[in-house]
Amino acid sequence: MAEYTQQQLLDLVNSSQVNPGDERVRQITQRIVSDLFRAIDDLDIKPDEFWAGVDWLARLGASGQLGLITAGLGFDRLIDIREEEADVAAGRAAGTPRAIEGPLYIAGAPLSDGQARLDEDPAQGTVLVMEGQVRDVDGKPVAGALVDVWHANELGRYSHFDPDQEDYHLRRKIRTDAQGRYRFRSFIPPGYAIPPNSPTSELFEALGRHGNRPAHIHFLVAAEGLRTLTTQVNIPGDTFLDDDFAFATRDGLVVELQPDTPPAGYESLGVDAPFTRVCFDFVLQPALDADEARPQARMDRATA
Ligand SMILES: [Fe+2]
Repeated sequence: MAEYTQQQLLDLVNSSQVNPGDERVRQITQRIVSDLFRAIDDLDIKPDEFWAGVDWLARLGASGQLGLITAGLGFDRLIDIREEEADVAAGRAAGTPRAIEGPLYIAGAPLSDGQARLDEDPAQGTVLVMEGQVRDVDGKPVAGALVDVWHANELGRYSHFDPDQEDYHLRRKIRTDAQGRYRFRSFIPPGYAIPPNSPTSELFEALGRHGNRPAHIHFLVAAEGLRTLTTQVNIPGDTFLDDDFAFATRDGLVVELQPDTPPAGYESLGVDAPFTRVCFDFVLQPALDADEARPQARMDRATA
């Protein structure tokens, strides 16, 4: 018998099995396929619409922009919200709020002790020094924590993904000193938008949405025995601060700018004129196990 109703076909797709396979993958696939079968029927999705969608997915995968779409459709923030709901339910002390990693982290940035300069001469934009302390939830400074920092250049592009920038430009890893302190010099980065004429922009145009992110700086902070924190800080005053295409900005992560800070004490960062200072401390939760303390980005964790 090879004539099926929609339901018979769905049941067959979801139950076909010649070996045990992976039970979790089977469970998730069955749910997603069932939901898509229902959507196709409920929305009366036509063959041309279905195959246009398949073509778009193929182009999206080839473009390397899947991580933009997951952020733009809210999935990255959803994962963070669920983690925080789980923390609240488990009564875990909160640290610095999480913010999405985004798709542009690269491991292996040059490591410095205590401080680093991210940018290069000639300096671009407004000179920024950001500094602070890494602490645990009891307020104890964490010496030897690793603060991975990365941000976009003056054109809103990230090194490694932009062939016009040197390797690891605007990317550093800073080890905190005995008092748990870090600091770095760079410039205040601009916001940026999704690439034009791309599968991502195609969808956003069809959805009537913009693809702008407000200015921000990314961090991955890790230390022994503490839960790895992935977050961002936002620069105040940006037009898109409350209208981020990736839904990633948070009240507790908008920093205060201290313009016209005198350069005394910052000479070792090459600062010799008044600059804009930002103070921000990172508070890390205790790790429940070694896995939570792994200093890895999301894809490295997922594929480890
Ligand atoms: Fe970013």
